[in-house]
Amino acid sequence: MASHDDEAVVRLEDVTKSFAGNSVLRGVSFTLTSGEVHVLAGENGAGKSTLIKVLTGIHAPDGGRVLVDGEPVTFAGPGDARRRGLTVIHQELSLVPELTVAENIVLGREPRRRGGRLDRRRSRERAVAALARVGAALDPDTRVADLNTGQQQLVEIARALADHPRVLVLDEPTAALSDEEARALLAIVAELRDAGLALLYISHRMAEIAQIADRVTVLRDGRVADTMTRAKSTEDRIVTSMVGRPVANLYQHGDREPSSQVRLRVERIRSRTVRECTLEVRAGEVVGLAGIVGAGRSELCRLIAGFDRADGGVVTVDGRPVDNGRPASAAAAGIVMLPESRKTQGLFPAMSVADNVCTGTGLGRRRLGRTSAGARRSAARRYADRMRIKSAGLDQRVAELSGGNQQKVLLARCLARRPAVLILDEPTRGVDIGAKADIYALVNEVAARGVAVLLISSELPEVLGLADRVLVMSGRSIVAELSGAALTEEEVIRYATGAGAPAELTQR
Ligand SMILES: Nc1ncnc2c1ncn2[C@@H]1O[C@H](COP(=O)(O)OP(=O)(O)OP(=O)(O)O)[C@@H](O)[C@H]1O
Ligand SMILES: [Mg+2]
Repeated sequence: MASHDDEAVVRLEDVTKSFAGNSVLRGVSFTLTSGEVHVLAGENGAGKSTLIKVLTGIHAPDGGRVLVDGEPVTFAGPGDARRRGLTVIHQELSLVPELTVAENIVLGREPRRRGGRLDRRRSRERAVAALARVGAALDPDTRVADLNTGQQQLVEIARALADHPRVLVLDEPTAALSDEEARALLAIVAELRDAGLALLYISHRMAEIAQIADRVTVLRDGRVADTMTRAKSTEDRIVTSMVGRPVANLYQHGDREPSSQVRLRVERIRSRTVRECTLEVRAGEVVGLAGIVGAGRSELCRLIAGFDRADGGVVTVDGRPVDNGRPASAAAAGIVMLPESRKTQGLFPAMSVADNVCTGTGLGRRRLGRTSAGARRSAARRYADRMRIKSAGLDQRVAELSGGNQQKVLLARCLARRPAVLILDEPTRGVDIGAKADIYALVNEVAARGVAVLLISSELPEVLGLADRVLVMSGRSIVAELSGAALTEEEVIRYATGAGAPAELTQR
């Protein structure tokens, strides 16, 4: 077999890149060959997204070379890279929600009739063909806004494939997907590899890396820390080269003991999408919400925190009724929620890290209610340090932070609000393994201080590792409560998939 290097479609040689004097890539060399899935791993802010932006013509490198088929290239922009067969699917989805599936797929390369008018029939045909390549049974005339995240991700891939690329780069494509959707996506990736594409795949999910990678390259602080073949890539080796030390004990329950005092009480809350739900979380307790996607977990939490309006039901904090008509009034009563999507819910990309952390918290406010940039910065610093947010400084715009660090900024703001009830919807989505450990420690810490925590996570080990008690949702209502010896992965899955219901009934 020829060595990887001989067959390289793409080669980076000693690439460097900095932003305003801040070195992000420090001499990266790297190859990508046809018929391989090359995984790029590394901590949040290690430079992964920046590397692929250099590779696909979005950033020009400051130094070093990019070679395609052995020839040095300089891309004028992403369109240029695309014409050379390099296509990328970015970390944040880039579809236009108001347009249809078909319109999105041909966007920017619409087939035209003579005279320049859009050729609707050919657009549609092209879209249908592209959707078929990813096995997506979607109506091309649906508005993208009406699709779920998994379906949107498929449309992104279909759009990328419509260019017939030789190199496809995927930046954390499964970060926002359910397990089932992620499995479907991995199958597509494997098919594309078998069809001879060269795939560069960024992921923080270890199980997925083990499943899909032919080679793994680990970036640390803008340098290649390690490259390993599939046979040599163990989770230990990957993690150790990512963080420079072994990470042990991801889940430490800590010594906390929930008090007997009920902090959050939700009684018969309901809406068009959530069937009557009743639950309690005690001070110092972490309650997990498990269930498959579409079970209604986020919807339920959004009702409690005032993001969506409930059609009925009562929410109390420490016995006092909460006005959960708006997020601000729920927050005033002590209920703070980390929403699922950082891009569309809550971050202000053009504002600084400090302002994003302090917004709505009263932090950095001086006498007479005036705020100053300096006061905000120092107030934000505590939280930024605690979350180990990697930035060029607290004045850096959040849009310039890496994806995982944006997630940490949102979480920092939630903590800065000093909640009585903290609702976390997928808090570790897109964060690296070290940051996950930080977030777990933090959840334990706030619970130990008496906060009532409600946790949604699609990663079962995470829920089981952190929660004192788990409520399982299915079909938009709570179907089981598990704790103690009954709190096992099997039990959660049994109820989440609906398999457990009849057995439960006959037992009683
Ligand atoms: N346009 C920019 N301006 C200034 N700094 C930037 C810009 N883009 C990236 N950076 C910085 O470069 C560093 C690397 O960011 P990058 O997005 O490549 O990380 P990443 O490895 O993809 O992380 P994650 O896993 O969190 O997505 C970060 O510290 C980030 O703040
Ligand atoms: Mg990234």
